Amino acid sequence: MNILVTGGAGFIGSHVVRRLVTQYPDYTIINLDKLTYAGNLENLKDVDNNSNYHFEKGCITDEKFVSDLFEKYKIDKVVHLAAESHVDRSITDPLIFVKTNLIGTANLLNCARQAWEGNYKDKLFYHISTDEVYGSLEMGTEMFTEETSYDPRSPYSASKAGSDHLVRSFWHTYHMPTLISNCSNNYGPNHFPEKLIPLFINNIVNKKPLPVYGKGENVRDWLHVKDHARAIDIILHKGVPGETYNIGGHNEWTNIELIKLMCDTVDQKLGRNIGESQKLITFVQDRAGHDLRYAIDASKIERELGWIPEYTFEQGLAETVDWYLENKEWLENVTSGEYQEYYQKMYK
Ligand code: NAD
Ligand code: TYD
Repeated sequence: MNILVTGGAGFIGSHVVRRLVTQYPDYTIINLDKLTYAGNLENLKDVDNNSNYHFEKGCITDEKFVSDLFEKYKIDKVVHLAAESHVDRSITDPLIFVKTNLIGTANLLNCARQAWEGNYKDKLFYHISTDEVYGSLEMGTEMFTEETSYDPRSPYSASKAGSDHLVRSFWHTYHMPTLISNCSNNYGPNHFPEKLIPLFINNIVNKKPLPVYGKGENVRDWLHVKDHARAIDIILHKGVPGETYNIGGHNEWTNIELIKLMCDTVDQKLGRNIGESQKLITFVQDRAGHDLRYAIDASKIERELGWIPEYTFEQGLAETVDWYLENKEWLENVTSGEYQEYYQKMYK
């Protein structure tokens, strides 16, 4: 089986590529990535010599490049993660989100349709999406299910919602086998330090201010990236085409409580006085259109495909802090752009 993974040099994509390359030596895994600021081949150093792994630098919006890849590798399945993924960036520069997430997804779908020529036996287009397409919940116990109406509120979530709709349109119009999963916030190793958890761990270690948006009362449902990669593996193999699966950790935290936990975890690991790093907390202007709460009802994937998270948050967060403490060079090189420069030159 030849699987095209898009965005495999990014945070979640690199965990998915590693899992597929190592667990399925009979498969050929092709990683298509543009190596934007968020793509880092250093994330895959441990598998890049495997004979079943191939890297292709390119853009998912490039029609010729993508259709040539389908031809070159006789792609059977697509696991599509490539995207612009940071809400704050979508507020300052929405257009790139439309280009990559909407046009890029449309191009991949169309190239798959043309390459497969209506013969969809053993073919699959699997889109990795987000719970943010469902909008924002009030405080309380309500959760997003697969039936929740779409109500995206940021340019990021609107572009992901649009790409989900495009994927479904190919299922209904062309009967192309497609799947979508909508996952909650991920955390873990190799997370680019602009998102809350890696940014704050880095700032706490370096005693820099911790910019909390608004009052820190917003709620997110955190899932370890390896639990997400395992869910993607299961859906890829056992998911029913045309279906949608929600993935989440049943692990809701207000930002401020989570930030205090991160402060205390780092203090404890670095031998600082517990409470010392909480002094770095700085309340700043709220994010425009800041969604209040996300929470996923993951009962469908649990019931139908037998997936449940394996990491407890306590264990996952402690391991993540350890990973950032042990990989200071990775952190310095991604923040300075050094890795990017190196790999951009290598794959000109
Ligand atoms: P990321 O920003 O870390 O990685 C994105 C990858 O896509 C990078 O390697 C980048 O180089 C690549 N890319 C960007 N534009 C490209 C283009 N035009 N052509 C080819 N490659 C391109 O993102 P992530 O956090 O790993 O998220 C991966 C996917 O999972 C995204 O689709 C995102 O919407 C979805 N998702 C993320 C989360 C989360 O918490 N991070 C949660 C649910 C769903
Ligand atoms: P983020 O990691 O950007 O993920 P998302 O917006 O996709 O949920 O942010 C998680 C939460 O943390 C969100 O409520 C915004 C908040 N946040 C801050 O308070 N300060 C920050 O510097 C960042 C990056 C996020």
